[in-house]
Amino acid sequence: MGERGLRVIREFQSYYDDLNGVRRAIVRRIPVAPGQRWLDIGTGDGWFALEIERVLSPRVVIGIDLARCEVELARQHAWDSHSRLSAFVQMDAYRLGFPSETFDGVGTFLALQDICLDLLSMRRLFGEINRVLRPGGWFALATTTPEDAETPSQKLALEIYQYIRAGFFTKAEIQEALERVGFEVEHLEFYPTGVNLEPEEAKAFIQFECDWLERAYGWRNKPDWQAVWARFEPRIRALGGLEVDAKVTFFLARKVRMVNPVPERLMELSREVRA
Ligand SMILES: C[S@@+](CC[C@H](N)C(=O)[O-])C[C@H]1O[C@@H](n2cnc3c(N)ncnc32)[C@H](O)[C@@H]1O
Repeated sequence: MGERGLRVIREFQSYYDDLNGVRRAIVRRIPVAPGQRWLDIGTGDGWFALEIERVLSPRVVIGIDLARCEVELARQHAWDSHSRLSAFVQMDAYRLGFPSETFDGVGTFLALQDICLDLLSMRRLFGEINRVLRPGGWFALATTTPEDAETPSQKLALEIYQYIRAGFFTKAEIQEALERVGFEVEHLEFYPTGVNLEPEEAKAFIQFECDWLERAYGWRNKPDWQAVWARFEPRIRALGGLEVDAKVTFFLARKVRMVNPVPERLMELSREVRA
């Protein structure tokens, strides 16, 4: 997207809730019949789950998140929007508390980079998603892929995310992991959000991202937001803003076979090696 299409954001808190309608556009691309069971992983504020409820007329949508504060926020948003079919639960994405083949569809929106630190953990997550999906079920995965960053301001936003906490995977890595655990990719598209934070809003964004780690997970060694701001401020000001969450890459995949999950023991071993 060129500079002309950018929306200058003056209220940092609100840009993320809407993201220029990208959640809705993505949910509309999922070819499903009404009355299905859906799961939203890393549901955060619950916006993607609530969009699934609005657009897909499911029987039920369950949103799960590791952070209790996010689950509470999602419940509040569900209440505010008179949701009747969505429920939100605190749960770890790697240990989904559902029997195999429970869901017709699983979604996850901008959460992959928060949930998975490396390729092995991404495969493990996808294996767990494969387990809870019925044969032929859909996996709607929306994430950020670094190769889509076009402008210096978009590249800087990814650099800041990575500096604070998130890792990103390329399209090829994601596709390979999906296929390895029994998915076939049916569509691959990307959606510009047009978000461009003004410098002062970029500062609020950095503070929010750093402080959120303590709020959500009690991290005592969270990055100091003022130090992060001081480090990146000159480049943000020179660019006139920060294009955060500017592109969303959407994989629509279908479960074509079952897999044996990556064993826990292997995960533990891999952690020991990395330590
Ligand atoms: C960027 S936020 C959520 C975005 C949200 N899906 C939306 O539509 O706006 C990513 C979420 O992933 C959650 N998360 C990180 N690791 C997780 C895990 N192991 N299991 C479940 N949720 C996790 C975080 O707590 C955070 O709320």
